[in-house]
Amino acid sequence: MILVAQVSDTHFDLGIRNTERVETVMRFLGELRRRPDAILVTGDVTESGKPEQYADARTALTTDIPVYAIPGNHDDRAHFRAMLLDQPASDEPINQVRRIGGSTVILLDSTVPGEPGGRLCETTYEWLREALDAAPADTPILLALHHPPARLSSPVVDEIALAEPERLAEIVAGDDRILAVLSGHAHSPAATTFAGRPLLIAPSTASVLGGAWELEMPHRVMDYAPDPAIALHVIDESGRLTTHFRSVSMAGRVTVQPI
Ligand SMILES: [Fe+2]
Repeated sequence: MILVAQVSDTHFDLGIRNTERVETVMRFLGELRRRPDAILVTGDVTESGKPEQYADARTALTTDIPVYAIPGNHDDRAHFRAMLLDQPASDEPINQVRRIGGSTVILLDSTVPGEPGGRLCETTYEWLREALDAAPADTPILLALHHPPARLSSPVVDEIALAEPERLAEIVAGDDRILAVLSGHAHSPAATTFAGRPLLIAPSTASVLGGAWELEMPHRVMDYAPDPAIALHVIDESGRLTTHFRSVSMAGRVTVQPI
C-alpha cells in the first residue's frame, strides 16, 4: 500500500490561526498508525509570498515524513524556491518528479506570476513529456498541480482555473500509467473526471469556498468556521486508487487571532 497525504492552500499569513491549523494536521498525520509515505502540499503555501511566511511554513511543515510542495497563485516562485527548497532564487517554474513507494508523483507548477489563473508554460509541457518518458514503465503516476484543469461549479475558482486544459488532457489520456490528477485551489474537497481519469481536489486547511449553490455572486464568501481538512490517497496492491477526505478537529485548540 502507498499512502500519500495531500495538504493544500495552507495560506501562511504570519497569523497564529492558519499556522496552528497546519500544525494540527501535521500532528494528525505524524500520529497515524500507518503514516503517509509522503505529504504533498499543492499550492498557496503562503498568503502573499513573503519570505517570513515561508519561514513559518517551513517550520510547521517540517517532519520526518517527506514533504513535497508546489506553488499556487498566492505564492512567489523566487521566495518559495529559496525558502522551501534551499535553491537559488529564480522565477523559473518549480516542477518536480518524486518516487513515492512504487509510484511516481509528478508535481507541476501551474502558476502564472502575478495572475490568479493557471497555465502550464511551454517549458513545463516539455519538462512533463521528458518526466513521463523517464518514469518506469510499470509505475503508477499521480500528476499534481495547483489549478484544477476542469470547471467545478465553483463561481470563484472556475474563473481562475487552468487555461488550455485540453493540452494537458491530451497528455493524460495518452498515458495509461497516470492514475489521477490532484489539485488544490478550490478550497473545497471535490472529485470529478478529467481526460477519463479522476480529478481529485484537496480541501484547504485554512478555509472553505462554497459552490454555485451557496455563493451569491459577486459576493465572495469564504467560510472560516470548518475544521482544516486534507485528502488521503491510497494506492493498494492491485494498483487501484482510493481517496479519502478527512477533516481534522481543532476542538480545544481554538486560538483568538491577534489583530
Ligand atoms: Fe488558496
